Amino acid sequence: MTQALLEKKILLCPVCRAPLSLSEDGRGLRCEGKRIHTFDLSKSGYVNLSLKYREGDTLDACRSRHAFFETDPYSILRQNLSAAISDLELPEGIILDAGCGEGYYTNDLAGAFTDRQVLGADLSKFALDIASKEAKKTAVANVSYAVCNLTELPLLDESCACLCNIFAPCCESEFARVLADGGYLVFVYAGPEHLWGLKQALYDEVYVNEKRQDEPKGLKEISHKRVRETITVRSPHIKELFAMTPYYFHTSPDRAEKLYLLDELDTVVDFEIKIFRKESSCRPSL
Ligand SMILES: C[S@@+](CC[C@H](N)C(=O)[O-])C[C@H]1O[C@@H](n2cnc3c(N)ncnc32)[C@H](O)[C@@H]1O
Repeated sequence: MTQALLEKKILLCPVCRAPLSLSEDGRGLRCEGKRIHTFDLSKSGYVNLSLKYREGDTLDACRSRHAFFETDPYSILRQNLSAAISDLELPEGIILDAGCGEGYYTNDLAGAFTDRQVLGADLSKFALDIASKEAKKTAVANVSYAVCNLTELPLLDESCACLCNIFAPCCESEFARVLADGGYLVFVYAGPEHLWGLKQALYDEVYVNEKRQDEPKGLKEISHKRVRETITVRSPHIKELFAMTPYYFHTSPDRAEKLYLLDELDTVVDFEIKIFRKESSCRPSL
């Protein structure tokens, strides 16, 4: 958790919505409300601001995704994301990665936009433990992580200049609340042919991915780009890739076994990047 983010007073207590600051012993955050609420910082550096017992991705899912991402397989998306954001005229505010997982994109964005504070938000403490450790390892100094639900972000209204939402649930009214006027939502989801080769290796018949149902409706769409390429995934990363997809839970063991026998897998990766702007007329009551 960076001091610079706390100084902005935009991180809020999930109980009373008063601003959070660093506790005197530096081991946690405390709110500035009448009744003081405190939240421990983990050893790796993230803070848990989730009140209700609801878990995000499991330890196994997070470890698989992280191990897969260590080979930088989605560099095409990572690079297109930074490039797309550098082309935007951002208002004042932080960059929020909503549903950031293990910080593959978050830490990269922090490295690319060193003049901004970057916050990764996710319901999975396992994911944020990995993300915070990675940030320390790579000495990214302007990134912080908070466990929270995207439906109730512990953030001040209009505090975000840019909100990335990558392969994670889109909570449009909450995103519109925290976006500054003129701020941008960068919404990334699987294109029609995403992981086509993986699906071909698993199933006899393969279908294109369906359109997302939770696409923003009240924010103004300003651009839409589809990026795709074919990547080669080598064992053991094939298994890790499979474990981070929904197919992992809906595939029979014998079909999965066949996949695990492969040394190499060629597959299309296909991403849709849609950018929306919050116009001053757009209110959170969407
Ligand atoms: C498919 S992963 C994507 C992670 C990351 N954006 C990436 O592309 O590598 C989806 C993430 O959303 C998180 N998530 C799901 N529902 C959530 C919610 N309601 N609030 C916060 N995070 C949530 C999960 O814990 C998981 O880390």
